[in-house]
Amino acid sequence: MAKRGYVPAAGFDRLTPLYDVLMRLTMREHAWRGPLVEQAGLEPGVRVLDVGVGSAALALEAFKHEPGGDIGGVDVDDRILARASWKVEEAGAGVQLVRGSAVDLPFEDGVFDRVLSSLVFHHLTRSEKVAAFREVRRVLGVGGELHFADWGSPSGVLTGLGFSLVRALDGFDRTRAHREGVLPGLLEEAGFGVVEEVGVADTVFGTMRRYRAVPG
Ligand SMILES: C[S@@+](CC[C@H](N)C(=O)[O-])C[C@H]1O[C@@H](n2cnc3c(N)ncnc32)[C@H](O)[C@@H]1O
Repeated sequence: MAKRGYVPAAGFDRLTPLYDVLMRLTMREHAWRGPLVEQAGLEPGVRVLDVGVGSAALALEAFKHEPGGDIGGVDVDDRILARASWKVEEAGAGVQLVRGSAVDLPFEDGVFDRVLSSLVFHHLTRSEKVAAFREVRRVLGVGGELHFADWGSPSGVLTGLGFSLVRALDGFDRTRAHREGVLPGLLEEAGFGVVEEVGVADTVFGTMRRYRAVPG
């Protein structure tokens, strides 16, 4: 665990410039990014926050899907935000980027209709996950929903082996709840009433699971 208090996008700062290439080569993004945005049911005027926006891949996918939305992203790491900012500008996309932590979101209560997130919660400790889910709940307005994709319990032996590499890189403690498949329980602990797994995609590094959660 880095002294800075968070795990960077690709585990190490020096890998941050390679993050998008590594993702493209290894993560079968087509199998879960588009479907994740699709399941969120974005409509014109929807207020969206991407928590742990990273290099803005998911936020840009959301913008592509619903250019009439009000789309923002928050991340704790200035380096990855610089990359996100460059990509957003390149794409000519209306995505607002803000620095801040998932466990203390820099937004007023109830200001978003959808919170999206991908591959972020496994960077947090168990108590931080619950704190982040509570923060998501706080910033969601009436009728708001959380839609996210992250590592879940591996679907088989090979995905389990691949996930061991991720766990060694990002921390065995931080990834335990994912390995054990207890994220739905943590969402309920944070006050979400409806929690459902919406889809699954295997990658060489483990099994990605997509969730929908509605505040209780
Ligand atoms: C593996 S990357 C995923 C990035 C992006 N969501 C994607 O799908 O490509 C994890 C991201 O979470 C961010 N992150 C880690 N801890 C965080 C925290 N406490 N608050 C906000 N962002 C955090 C990292 O800086 C990094 O950009």
